Amino acid sequence: MDKQQIFTDIHGLCEGFTKFFVQLADNKSGTFYMAISGGTTPIALFNYWADNLKESHIWQKVHFFWVDERCVPPDSNESNFYNAKKHLLDKLKINPDQVYRMKGEESPQKEAGNYASLLQEKLPLKNNTPHFDLIILGMGNDGHTASIFPHQIKLWDENSNCVVGEHPETGQKRVSLTGKVINNAKHVAFLLTGTNKKNIVAGILDEREYVKDKYPAALVNPVSGNLFWFMDSEAAHLIMHE
Ligand code: 6PG
Repeated sequence: MDKQQIFTDIHGLCEGFTKFFVQLADNKSGTFYMAISGGTTPIALFNYWADNLKESHIWQKVHFFWVDERCVPPDSNESNFYNAKKHLLDKLKINPDQVYRMKGEESPQKEAGNYASLLQEKLPLKNNTPHFDLIILGMGNDGHTASIFPHQIKLWDENSNCVVGEHPETGQKRVSLTGKVINNAKHVAFLLTGTNKKNIVAGILDEREYVKDKYPAALVNPVSGNLFWFMDSEAAHLIMHE
């Protein structure tokens, strides 16, 4: 499968990504371990799944984990769990036993430790590190991914499963997976939309060596080699015209 796919708009991206996701989940026997990100792009995907994939049998095998979570209560509209619950989990009536949220209401450091232990316990391990079947990532306009921001890029290489990041403008604390877990996944997919991302997308895809000290998203490089980019034409604008 082409590792870079470009779509006219976000609906096309959700459709194309869903084909990829269904194929992965169908081909996996037993539980499909998936970690999802927050932000606006995943909400569009969740709504697409609720509208177009609701009856699929694959939802019985998917176990949901989070890439990151804002340190807010689970009923806050800023919560990544809240938005996944509202736009997907409740609509599909996913069994709560298949859902492992990061607890944004807990002390950040405490939850980072607890979630790291939960991953170690609930997931299969590869190199003694939690081994996801699929991790869905976004990328901020500043090149952050998960909740590893440029001003804290060193958190990416922490030797733990989870860390506490901090939003550079708001100071909001966030629990986040580290590169140790993200780059240990079987498949990693970026879902990227919008013109504000086009320069960083081009920087990472064309000159990763030059930007990997600036953009945490440039450090996403799974050992499996299975890194896929699903982009709309705005985010991909500069690489389309090469
Ligand atoms: C979060 C996300 C974050 C997100 C990017 C892109 O908690 O905000 O995990 O890393 O993926 O900010 O967000 P958009 O999808 O809104 O562009």
